[in-house]
Amino acid sequence: MTPETAHVRVSHVTKRFGGVTAVDDVSFEVPKGAFATLLGPSGCGKTTTLRMIAGFYDPDQGDIEIAGKRVNELPVHRRGTAMVFQDYALFPHMTVRDNVAYGLRVAHVSRSERERRVAETLAFVGLKGLEGRWPNQLSGGQQQRVAVARALVIEPQVLLLDEPLSNLDAKLREQLRVEMRILQRRLGMTFVYVTHDQEEALSLSDWIAVMNAGRVEQAGAPWEIYYHPKTAFLADFVGAVNLVPAKVTDLADGTVTVSFGRHHAKVRRPEAPLRAGQEVQLCVRPESFTIAPPDVAAAGLSLPGATVRRAFLGDTMRYWVKVDDRAWIVDQPDPGGSATLDGAVSLSLRADRVHVIAE
Ligand SMILES: Nc1ncnc2c1ncn2[C@@H]1O[C@H](COP(=O)(O)OP(=O)(O)OP(=O)(O)O)[C@@H](O)[C@H]1O
Ligand SMILES: [Mg+2]
Repeated sequence: MTPETAHVRVSHVTKRFGGVTAVDDVSFEVPKGAFATLLGPSGCGKTTTLRMIAGFYDPDQGDIEIAGKRVNELPVHRRGTAMVFQDYALFPHMTVRDNVAYGLRVAHVSRSERERRVAETLAFVGLKGLEGRWPNQLSGGQQQRVAVARALVIEPQVLLLDEPLSNLDAKLREQLRVEMRILQRRLGMTFVYVTHDQEEALSLSDWIAVMNAGRVEQAGAPWEIYYHPKTAFLADFVGAVNLVPAKVTDLADGTVTVSFGRHHAKVRRPEAPLRAGQEVQLCVRPESFTIAPPDVAAAGLSLPGATVRRAFLGDTMRYWVKVDDRAWIVDQPDPGGSATLDGAVSLSLRADRVHVIAE
């Protein structure tokens, strides 16, 4: 990325609280207009990173740049950022209208312009008609929209969102996820979004940085993170996965042959350095298999096995299939009512769905 296209740049940023290193030498760049997400388990440093971009915390080391300008010393209200907090932090003693107008009042925007912008923003987030309500008279989803409106009304260059959907039920979360993405596209605004929910991150983002213990473990496009994780932690964190010990038996340009149990597979060679004889792990997503009765010929890599357990998940049937002495998780999409498999089955797997993790 050239310096001109990076909208937010975090360079070697470290933040300590007493003896705890909350953020440990973190670097990343977010292009202008991107939906970027920091994903990671509780306590990995997501909020701390976001707060440093917003200016609520000073980094102990490293630099934060917005639109090519170092902002370390710039106060919160002069960075061109706005933040949506996890708990929304609405003012309970102010109506929806006054909550949204607050930032404009602080910035001494004239009354007429304030009224115009508040009305426009409330309409934009679908809250028209609720201007006079108090926060405790709103549903969780409506409160979340007020929090977003309050941030958008000041017309930030960069919107920072800290787990804005985590307090909502699953159905509403899914709906607001779609709205969030449409909103971001329509505004062409740069979003830095924080979540510990992998599904949310995968479905919303142009780019994801997965954090663990204060560090960025891997950053890239959602599919890259999902199918080509660099570590077992990442593979496991971003979804259901089969992690299977294997051994490198042969190396070629672009491919690697691995053996596991009685089986061999020639698969894509990962970026990490490899040598013959090395112990690695295979990462295979449950939906990458095709499962069929035992007499059906398998295309690609064929693994005969037997079902040991199954769970109906609605859109998929999840099987645990024993192959040799290991149970693989296998998802069959669109299972229907009666076509469940029992006992001996044939699994098939395309070699391009097998990813090698060398740690
Ligand atoms: N103000 C603070 N004082 C002391 N320690 C803090 C402070 N803020 C955060 N920490 C510690 O820094 C680490 C990172 O915290 P942070 O809030 O950034 O995590 P997070 O990834 O946002 O987690 P969660 O998903 O639970 O919100 C944690 O160990 C936390 O206890
Ligand atoms: Mg947090």
